[in-house]
Parts: sequence; structure tokens; C-alpha cells
Amino acid sequence: MKDKINNISDEIKEKGVVAIDNFLENKDLETVLKIVKEPKKGSMESYYPVYLSQYISKLIKFDFKKVNNSLFFKKIAKKLNFKEISETVFGAKAELQMIDCYHNKQSNDQILSWHNDIGIKDSKNINSLKDFYSATKATFSKNQTGDARGIKFFIYLTDVKSDNGSLAVIPYSDKIVKSICSLITKKKIEPISFWSLKNLRNLVNQKIIQELLYEDIQKEIIDNFLKNTNFIENEIADTTQFDYQMNRGGAVIFDELSVHRGSAPKKTDRIVLRFVYKKINTLN
Ligand SMILES: [Fe+2]
Repeated sequence: MKDKINNISDEIKEKGVVAIDNFLENKDLETVLKIVKEPKKGSMESYYPVYLSQYISKLIKFDFKKVNNSLFFKKIAKKLNFKEISETVFGAKAELQMIDCYHNKQSNDQILSWHNDIGIKDSKNINSLKDFYSATKATFSKNQTGDARGIKFFIYLTDVKSDNGSLAVIPYSDKIVKSICSLITKKKIEPISFWSLKNLRNLVNQKIIQELLYEDIQKEIIDNFLKNTNFIENEIADTTQFDYQMNRGGAVIFDELSVHRGSAPKKTDRIVLRFVYKKINTLN
């Protein structure tokens, strides 16, 4: 078991992402499918309680089903060692921060364009480090360093293909984003927008910033990042090169600092069960 956890963690540590077929055993997959096919109201994202306060708020509303389903999902997370995998990647303690069932209706629009989960979307209101921390609150709330991050576990409940809702992740891009965050928190560069791949590339292409990045990461990683992401300058700013085409029951696990996108679910609805683990301790 230790070996399996280490193999998964090592790949995430190295490339920022790992894909695993048949991650969920059939019996559990069937149970999960029954749960998520229950009729939903309103939002396409169905959140499940994780923290005690969230359980209490469900219990007050007599929503025992949500509580039970959440406990079942936590059992799966335990069986698949999500916490241990995250902690091995972080080299630090991790905690479960979110479970949701993400349901996307069939559409010709991308689920989300190329981005990373921590970058500032709009730098207009970012005038100080404090603003930066608050803009990136999800990741930085408990650990205000450039080394804070989360691990996302996507378990597919429908098959995904390049033209049908697959996730693509640029390998090694987490190193670039991590380094940019670190330069901002060390006040070596201004906190500016780098959520979208286009803005991130604009930063990395600046000579002064590139020199600073060289001090932190290998030149090869920066060169490959620029080469791998050149497609974003094309008229159709997309590529299928980094897609993970998965059957239901498979999983893609990635560092939220990685650059990624969700392709359009052109043929069918897409359903993903997502777990997010955050690093919780302070600096080593
Ligand atoms: Fe994302």
C-alpha cells in the first residue's frame, strides 16, 4: 500500500498530475452513481458537508441524506488514501477541504479555459500583498507562503474524451506557477494577474521575470513550458495534446498550481466527483 501511495505521490510531485484507470472499484462506482443520479435542485455543483459546522447545518435542515452520502464519500477517500497521497506530495499535513459532485450539461462551450486555480484573475484591485492573499484565499488562508497549495482528486462518473469534457493538464506547469507565487510573496515582482494561461505566459516571457525564475527552477522546465503552451497564441487557442481521456471510475489527480482546462462536453453531460485536500501547516 505504501508503494502505491508513493508511486501516485511521486508522479504528482514530479509532473503535477497523474491519471489512474479503474481507480474506483465497481461496487463503489455503482453506489456513487446511484447517489449522484438523485434529482438535484438549482446548482450544477452539489456540495457535500466536510467540516463539523457543515454537518450541523445539514442536520438542522433534516438533510440526513447529504450527511450519509458525505460519510460514504469520506469512506471512499479513506480507502483510496487521499489524505496520505496529499501529505506525501506536500511533505506536510493535509486536510479535506471540499467534496462536490460537479455536473456539466452537454454543451459546445469549454467547461473552463486554460488556467491555474491560484492565479489572480483580475489584478485591478490587487495593490498589496494583503490583497494578493485575499484574492488567493482558498489556498493561502492558513499558510501565507508561496509554497501553499491543494491537491484535487477528480473521479469520473461519465466517460470523458477530448471532444467530450476531458481535463487537460500541462505537465510541470505547477513549478512555474509555484515560483511566480513565491516571487510575489517575496516581493520580487508585483502581484499581477496570472490566472489565465495567456497572462501567465506574458509574465514568464518577460526577461526580468525569466531571470528570477532561473534562480528557482531549471531552464529546461521554463523552455518546455513556453514551448508546450505556445498554442494559446493561435487563433483556436487550444490543444488536445495534454488531455486525459478517461473511462468512468478512472481518476485524474493534480496539483491546483498546474495549468489545466476542461474541454466542452459536446456529446454527453459530464459528472465528476471531486475531493480537494489543502496543505495545513506553516513553513517547514
Ligand atoms: Fe481549475
